[in-house]
Amino acid sequence: MAAGYRIEVMHGVNLDMLHRRDPTHYGEMSLLDLERTIEGFAREIGLSTRFFQSNFEGAFVERLHLLEGQADAVIVNAGAWTHYSWAIRDALELTKLPAVEVHLSDVEKRDPWRKISVFDGLCIEKISGKGPEGYRLALQSLQKALKDAPGR
Ligand code: DQA
Repeated sequence: MAAGYRIEVMHGVNLDMLHRRDPTHYGEMSLLDLERTIEGFAREIGLSTRFFQSNFEGAFVERLHLLEGQADAVIVNAGAWTHYSWAIRDALELTKLPAVEVHLSDVEKRDPWRKISVFDGLCIEKISGKGPEGYRLALQSLQKALKDAPGR
């Protein structure tokens, strides 16, 4: 199937170190493995993906600034920034793109501060604790949102 909607998949701080993080929370994959897996999920349902990762908040914000006209929707796993970066929330908001927040680990069942998300009320969905499978669900959810509201 031809690649349809363009999905920007954005990983934030420390996610480049996925292969060195606690496997009980994050599994064994490297970020590259994860990105290849997500690309496969997307291809199965006719979506195209582009990937970005940074440990620099300003670089992450600037990538969001550039998304207009380059992507149709966003998947964001901002790592620890999720819990405190209002700058990233503002930048995501200004893309006006449908977005889904994904976490590999179950942020509801870890430290209390991980329950807080700056993306609350902004993303169409928050998926956490489902590992890589969470990204498949996010892609499906964004595809549905884009089909239901074309030209949004
Ligand atoms: C994470 C959860 C965050 O709390 C944490 O800071 C991360 C990864 C996840 O994918 O489970 O870096 O976003």
